Amino acid sequence: MAKIRWGVIGCGGIAARRTIPEFKQMVSNAEIVSVMDISADRAKEVAGQFDIPHWCDTEEELLEQDIDAVYIATPQNVHASQTVQAAQAGKHILCEKPIAITVEEVGWMEDACTKAGVKFMLAWCMRQNVYNKKARELVQSGAVGRVVMGRAQLTCWYPPIPDAWRQDISISHGGALLDMGTHCLDMLEWIMDARIVEVTGFQDLLVQEYRTRIEDTSTIVARFDNGAHGIIDNYFNVPDAAARNSLEIFGTKGSIIAYGTIGQDPAGNMFSVTQPEETGYDADQVRNVEVNRQEYDLEGVGIYGQMITIFSDCILHDKVPPTSFADGRHSVAVVNAIYKSVADKRVVQVED
Ligand SMILES: NC(=O)c1ccc[n+]([C@@H]2O[C@H](COP(=O)([O-])OP(=O)(O)OC[C@H]3O[C@@H](n4cnc5c(N)ncnc54)[C@H](O)[C@@H]3O)[C@@H](O)[C@H]2O)c1
Repeated sequence: MAKIRWGVIGCGGIAARRTIPEFKQMVSNAEIVSVMDISADRAKEVAGQFDIPHWCDTEEELLEQDIDAVYIATPQNVHASQTVQAAQAGKHILCEKPIAITVEEVGWMEDACTKAGVKFMLAWCMRQNVYNKKARELVQSGAVGRVVMGRAQLTCWYPPIPDAWRQDISISHGGALLDMGTHCLDMLEWIMDARIVEVTGFQDLLVQEYRTRIEDTSTIVARFDNGAHGIIDNYFNVPDAAARNSLEIFGTKGSIIAYGTIGQDPAGNMFSVTQPEETGYDADQVRNVEVNRQEYDLEGVGIYGQMITIFSDCILHDKVPPTSFADGRHSVAVVNAIYKSVADKRVVQVED
């Protein structure tokens, strides 16, 4: 079977902790040929750890290798320039979130990929979580009726760390919202098949003493184009053991509640409470959630490995990847509308 030959740009946390291990363990339609990091020591270490034949510390050397595709897992301030460079070298690109900092950058990325005739996919890995897929299926099949509210939460304990790029706003361009909330925004839009059109909320640096000001506390309210409301909450100051990473969907015929499905593990737990018909008003207000309650016990598969398999399959069989540049542009527009809303203390319309 033909295999797509990959290079990795950025051998840090997510690449070495999740994507490369899952790639090696579960992907059958691709192989990693080379890894590159701005730190030569890091690239060499990761190549040794995962038995990868070639490593280097420049994009130029990586792109000269006999590879079909690259996985970009560097800080987001270089996603645009590295995508353009890879596209110009004729490589297909799987890029980590957030796709870029500005809508203009997304335009440059799209132009370069279109001109070179290469495919691009945004690494929305949490769409591969089996519970999140089930939640989407339930919502799309009408099991909870008309959705009126969706909430997505992702938190972690993230203390000050010297030299951490996320804590330098000139590199990261944002805090808990940009880092974790982008996943939550995508989850709600994807599950509900709706776009966010208006946003407002609060963001603060409440607890952590970072060297530049990025939010460690972000609580956002959104309105979707189908009229439903949303809550997106992200905190860098909740202990990991206390995290719930809740996903909640409420509609006119029921609800879906999940914990731990928004995260890097392929796991989580989820239940739904649904009723086939909308009922009349219950003057006795009996709230029996045991009626029509269903627990889900599903088998999860590595979400990062699945992304590599899906994108490799798109390249092998000339399929359209499941995410588009329009999705990426919208994602940046929503994030930037949120930061504007918080700065101006008002509701902001999303314009993409
Ligand atoms: N999809 C997910 O679940 C997920 C999870 C974590 C991080 N991410 C995203 O992945 C990206 C990387 O995050 P991370 O947590 O792995 O960061 P990290 O700091 O752990 O790793 C980044 C690596 O990139 C290297 N690097 C920095 N600048 C570079 C450059 N110009 N060229 C090549 N290498 C460079 C660093 O030396 C480091 O090894 C970020 O955009 C982040 O938002 C996604």
